[in-house]
Amino acid sequence: MKFFIDTANLAQIKEAQELGVLDGVTTNPSLMAKEGITGRNNILKHYVDICNIVDGDVSAEVISTDLKGMIKEGEELAELHEQIVVKVPMIKDGIKAIKYFTDKGIRTNCTLVFSCGQALLAAKAGAAYVSPFIGRLDDISTDGLNLISEIRHIYDNYEFETQILAASVRHTMHVIDCAKIGADVMTGPLSAIEGLLKHPLTDSGLAKFLEDYQKGN
Ligand code: E4P
Repeated sequence: MKFFIDTANLAQIKEAQELGVLDGVTTNPSLMAKEGITGRNNILKHYVDICNIVDGDVSAEVISTDLKGMIKEGEELAELHEQIVVKVPMIKDGIKAIKYFTDKGIRTNCTLVFSCGQALLAAKAGAAYVSPFIGRLDDISTDGLNLISEIRHIYDNYEFETQILAASVRHTMHVIDCAKIGADVMTGPLSAIEGLLKHPLTDSGLAKFLEDYQKGN
């Protein structure tokens, strides 16, 4: 299972990279705005800065919602760095754009996916990643993890190569449940990754080991 971090914060990306388990980064326009990154040139530079920190794929989202605009933006993003994956929204022109990019050898991440039907379309169009937003489904009292299970089942039926990128992961149990289901990737905050470290028996066990060592040394 790949671990992506879902942020545009360079300090957090560096921290996750230094942990040694990071496989990539996802961003979106809200996350860029949260870091105060505005203006086309600054945004493009920020993507390159992120690529220079991590070894894996970095999702960069288009703003346009029409096919022509998405193609122009996506090609510009893809040229920035070989690690860039163009993030395209799940809309009609988005599917056309994913097909266009796939035929050109440009990898895509189909974002804002909330149903199996949408995931099926993304795979048919050749998306490298599909991003079902599990946290946002949970927010409206729907079972986000169930969507991941259903997409896994559908993709396995036909051996689709599109990777299931469980997005909108909010906490550590989401990560563990996605791993049980067989999501290919999860993207979430640093806290969800670091939460995997924690167990009170590890803390008390280590404290006891160190205490016993001190007695004899
Ligand atoms: C996915 O790529 C999105 O950036 C992200 O996971 C959305 O998460 P949120 O619902 O916590 O905003």
